[in-house]
Amino acid sequence: MKNSNHITWHHSSVTKKDRNLLSGHKSCVLWFTGLSGSGKSTLANAVDYALFRNALRSYILDGDNIRHGLNRDLRFGPEDRKENIRRIGEVAKLFVDSGQIVLSAFISPFREDRELVRNMFESDEFIEVYVKCPIQVCEDRDPKGLYKKARKGEIPEFTGISSPYEMPSHPEIVIESDKMSIEESVEKIIAYLQDKKIL
Ligand code: ADX
Repeated sequence: MKNSNHITWHHSSVTKKDRNLLSGHKSCVLWFTGLSGSGKSTLANAVDYALFRNALRSYILDGDNIRHGLNRDLRFGPEDRKENIRRIGEVAKLFVDSGQIVLSAFISPFREDRELVRNMFESDEFIEVYVKCPIQVCEDRDPKGLYKKARKGEIPEFTGISSPYEMPSHPEIVIESDKMSIEESVEKIIAYLQDKKIL
């Protein structure tokens, strides 16, 4: 859809840098990607809690929740998934501009869509976290009973069953959720943020 030609961008007096100074840390997006049931939301929550306890400013954007509100008009075909991820990218960008650490937990199965979001950010602001877990393990966990339904053909275009998942080629962080504990995973992510001088 084409933009109106009659809109102008307003520059604000308070910059992202000013807001980062107030936060006491840099802002960024930790983009958790992986299959349904791989542990994205659990991990994002655990990292959020660790940051919060240390008085750092973070916020979670989660697939299931966002699809109840902002993206309730979208389904799971490739075009809708693309639009889902594009909107989340724009929202994440606003949060990063506000000086916060965004934890986004979406399957985001298509490499091209994730790259599109990556390109919305400065190079050190977008941190792709691949939550790697064999589909068999996700299917055994099946926390929402969706794999069972998908196998019976009750959910069309289910990621990993009847719709593809393209794994990241160069993720900044890989978490093997079937091998690492939540605590170890949180430590690895926090250590990355410290190493990159975000915290
Ligand atoms: S994404 O592919 O567009 O990034 P998103 O993360 O927002 O997906 O939503 C995924 C969640 O929606 C899953 O965790 C699951 O609970 C639910 N869901 C419902 N239908 C599907 C489907 N066809 N494929 C994958 N997840 C689905």
